[in-house]
Amino acid sequence: MKTFVVGNWKMNLTVGESSLFLQKLQKKIKPAKNLEVVVAPSAIALQTLSLQLERNKSKIKLAAQNFHYRDYGAFTGEISVSQLHGIIKYAIVGHSERRHIFGETNREVKMKVAAAIRNNIRPIICIGETEGERASGETADVIRDQLLSSLSEIDVEDFKKVIIAYEPVWAISGGKSSRAAAPDEVIDVIRLIHTTLADTYGKEIEENIPVLYGGSVNADNAGAYLTMKGVNGLLIGGASLMSEPFCDIVETAKRVIA
Ligand code: PGA
Repeated sequence: MKTFVVGNWKMNLTVGESSLFLQKLQKKIKPAKNLEVVVAPSAIALQTLSLQLERNKSKIKLAAQNFHYRDYGAFTGEISVSQLHGIIKYAIVGHSERRHIFGETNREVKMKVAAAIRNNIRPIICIGETEGERASGETADVIRDQLLSSLSEIDVEDFKKVIIAYEPVWAISGGKSSRAAAPDEVIDVIRLIHTTLADTYGKEIEENIPVLYGGSVNADNAGAYLTMKGVNGLLIGGASLMSEPFCDIVETAKRVIA
């Protein structure tokens, strides 16, 4: 299975800045077997960056940060995943900021997962418990619920296109009292994701679904998360906006899979 290093740029960088930053990454990041490097810029920069990557025959791939679950229609201000077809290979779905700031529900997440699959885009489905849910012992229920519901609108043969990203909400930078999780605080949840998939859909399906980790990942802690059993890559916010830490994380991933 490939290892994924995904940078989520969130609502940062202008189109020009995104293009220059990507240029830097293209120069510094040399492709490696079994490693997929993906960046998720603002929607407005996607087409420019897609042309840039194509022109340079780069192996870096693009992801959308969000999209609407309908393919077209009267949804002012929205972008459909079918409109992004040919521009992106991946799409982040159900990021905690979508869920908690914009009120995205499990229902919307599963519709978006179905829309991505319908349009041949691989969804990176984010799941994770809040600090309060963890404190009250609800982590396992929340994770199982978010995970199984997100997959409930797609056919089992499409499960191999799906990527899961476990991001404990309390570990995502920018949160009120966020802090990086120690690997032993989150290993049980990584295990739970794998056992839930295996128990519900079978071992063969579970083995083909990559599980990424995200939340305050930086150049110093990336290795510790990447060497956790059951972790197949990283979803990185803050540290993906600077070329040095992001490229260092990519190098760490190369060493771990070598
Ligand atoms: P962070 O963001 O690395 O800045 O914590 C991760 C994410 O939101 O995906």
